[in-house]
Amino acid sequence: MGGRRVRGRSNIALSISMSIGNAVLLGVHQVCEFVLDLREILTTPIRFIEYLTILYPDMSSSSPKSILVTGATGNQGRAVLSQLLSLNAHSPSPLFTIFAVTRNTTSLSAKTLAENPHVTLVQGNLDHPSSIFSSLPKGVQIWGVYSVQIGIGQTEASEIAQGTSLIDASLAHGVRHFVYSSLVRHPPSVASKIRIAQFESKVVIEAHLKEACKDGAMNYTILQPSGFFENMKPGMQGAVFAGILKWNLPKEYKLAYISTDDIGWFAAQSFEDPENPAYKNKEIAPAGDTRGFDDIERIYREKTGKNLPLPPMGRLLPWLVSNVFVKELGELFRYFSQAVSRSRSLVLRDRILRLQCKSS
Ligand SMILES: NC(=O)c1ccc[n+]([C@@H]2O[C@H](COP(=O)([O-])OP(=O)(O)OC[C@H]3O[C@@H](n4cnc5c(N)ncnc54)[C@H](OP(=O)(O)O)[C@@H]3O)[C@@H](O)[C@H]2O)c1
Repeated sequence: MGGRRVRGRSNIALSISMSIGNAVLLGVHQVCEFVLDLREILTTPIRFIEYLTILYPDMSSSSPKSILVTGATGNQGRAVLSQLLSLNAHSPSPLFTIFAVTRNTTSLSAKTLAENPHVTLVQGNLDHPSSIFSSLPKGVQIWGVYSVQIGIGQTEASEIAQGTSLIDASLAHGVRHFVYSSLVRHPPSVASKIRIAQFESKVVIEAHLKEACKDGAMNYTILQPSGFFENMKPGMQGAVFAGILKWNLPKEYKLAYISTDDIGWFAAQSFEDPENPAYKNKEIAPAGDTRGFDDIERIYREKTGKNLPLPPMGRLLPWLVSNVFVKELGELFRYFSQAVSRSRSLVLRDRILRLQCKSS
């Protein structure tokens, strides 16, 4: 009996000492982990800043947001960069650090962007958005993404694949605010009768974005810009575009236009003030003005003192471009002209957010 009591006591003593041993081991393990964490925090500037912003949350409002801009060397991307940099320049401390995506970091246009100290080039291809995130400098956490895909020059399926996988990759990498640049659309009554790849792809990408953001992990702003004023630039490209307008649209048809600077302005505002109800989980269809071809010719003459350039050989080049080389353009303009015959009030007044600036 006495022996059983002694054995019982020694079992209790053994289990107490094992518990103490485990606790000590656990404690040592935790101390080691803490020391390792601390060493990483102190030796990695970005982790150190993150650590400080956890300790002092007020500081987080003053640290710049990292924005990934796709299509950075293109029309919209350049405008977004320029508007973000302008906000930086007018703020006591920089609001944004910009990561500009390009397939070729050595091109002249890419190098020009990188001259600004707030811009870092990121080599990447929208066919593989996850690899864009892996190409970022170590420790960078992207807060916002500007997403634009080229419409002409790829299939509907490839545009959808690029647009949706960038959304998925952004969610997977903890992005908080996603600005998707889509395209203005005519009312469903008209859109349902004509199918255009460039429009259809954007409808699918928009729906994917809304679904991806529905639990609030990421917010979005969808921009649905109208045609760009910049399509009418000097040179052959602008002349062919003017020819396409002149010979493809009924005279009375007024198209809505916007300056890409204004698209950039909306994007930058949305990144600066993401909780603003005008931007948070909203679609915006901005346009600067609606003009018919006669207006465009007149304004061009008034502003430049010259006639709006049209392509040599009259209709031939615009016809070849819009029916053979870039068939989507032909589809687009057939869409516009059919749309106008169905509805004369197709200037989208109900959906356009009219801008005050750069109207003519
Ligand atoms: N033109 C209009 O009137 C109008 C109106 C409304 C909406 N839109 C829409 O606007 C979009 C085009 O925007 P944008 O005019 O700003 O484009 P953009 O000037 O043609 O520029 C696109 C940029 O995207 C980059 N890029 C192209 N393919 C890429 C890829 N696979 N991976 C990574 N980057 C790639 C290129 O840069 P790098 O060569 O440096 O990689 C290029 O500079 C289209 O979806 C169109 O439907 C156009």
